[in-house]
Amino acid sequence: MNKKERLPYALPDLGDEEIKAASRVIRSGWLTSGPETSAFEEEFKHFTGAPQALAVNSCTSALHLISRALMLGPRDAVIVPAITFIATAEAFTYEGALPLLVDVHRQTMLLDPSLTEGFIENTCKKNKNGEWIHRASGRRLRALVAVHLGGRACDLDGLRDLCREYRLKLIEDAAHALPAHYTGRHGQEMIGSKSEFAAFSFYATKNLATGEGGMLTLRDAGAADRLRRLRLHGILGQTYGRARWRYDVLEFGYKYNMCDILAAIGRVQLRRLPAMQKKRHRLAGEYVRMLQGLPLRIIDEPTPEGAQHLFTVELLDSAKLHRDELVEALYTRGIATSLHFIPLYRFTHFRKTYKYRMADFPHAEALFKRILSLPLYPTLPPATVKKICGVLGDLLG
Ligand SMILES: Cc1ncc(COP(=O)(O)O)c(C=O)c1O
Repeated sequence: MNKKERLPYALPDLGDEEIKAASRVIRSGWLTSGPETSAFEEEFKHFTGAPQALAVNSCTSALHLISRALMLGPRDAVIVPAITFIATAEAFTYEGALPLLVDVHRQTMLLDPSLTEGFIENTCKKNKNGEWIHRASGRRLRALVAVHLGGRACDLDGLRDLCREYRLKLIEDAAHALPAHYTGRHGQEMIGSKSEFAAFSFYATKNLATGEGGMLTLRDAGAADRLRRLRLHGILGQTYGRARWRYDVLEFGYKYNMCDILAAIGRVQLRRLPAMQKKRHRLAGEYVRMLQGLPLRIIDEPTPEGAQHLFTVELLDSAKLHRDELVEALYTRGIATSLHFIPLYRFTHFRKTYKYRMADFPHAEALFKRILSLPLYPTLPPATVKKICGVLGDLLG
């Protein structure tokens, strides 16, 4: 079977409108950050209710900019869930911070306030300045990263309480969470609207796809001004519309700006997002209906609040096949699946550099051995979902 025939697990939903928008920018002669990027930021703010939005070239760049905003450095440590994409941890190491991995909740796969509190209490101590110090490394605990995995919001009330208690900043990795909502003690909020910092991804597989790209939303206007400079070499003022050659650099920054071609695609995708989301939710509902009775636990249970970025299931121990056997059997039948995610402590670099031990992550380990993500994207025909469920029924029933 060639690659073309095999059903992918994710596919961007791009069409004539996106092609027209990109062509318009190419014909305009202004390709880099300009009017499209500014318009995309305004529209993103309007859509999410975020006070500030900065378009960047990836979610990873957004996370790095957040670590600059918080002035994280080699004396600091950041709590990261054990199950996430590598970028969540990696971005904080750019400024020298230490990623401290914490086990996730066995059911939700998300960072859990009480597990995280247990981790802090067991591994850190308070110094006379009221800072929490990680005993083994001597680092100050400065922030925690809530990853809304699959577009399912973390317990933000619980994590915010924890952050207040331990003097931590809350950073939201919202790569999967556009659009997602959280309902807490103060009512419902869209992810990004109340966040101190949230980082979104527009990578090729994401709910809103521009190929590469991201958006950083934040509350503080002053911090936004500084990060706007840092995203483009630390240059004061925009390149677009600058009539004269003179500009100043206040501090070194990065080449993290978004180009107008991608912003134009993003604007179309944002307009189409509600319709694309409806399809994701409908397909997830079909999966739930048709997988009933099989030895699977659905982790990405469809809810109106979730972004339904993924459809991750956990294979129960009563199943006839192990996860790897199931993945292989689906693959040979033309169905690609994925795994979100390999726990970070399993990577050679993490094991060697930070000496993590699998035994410290019983939930992540149990999940890792049993999870897989089934194909889900707006253009996936419902008949194909039926076919996939039929194959699963044959293999597991
Ligand atoms: C949870 C999570 N965080 C961060 C990222 C990084 O996003 P980007 O590729 O836009 O840098 C990803 C990308 O897959 C992700 O899944």
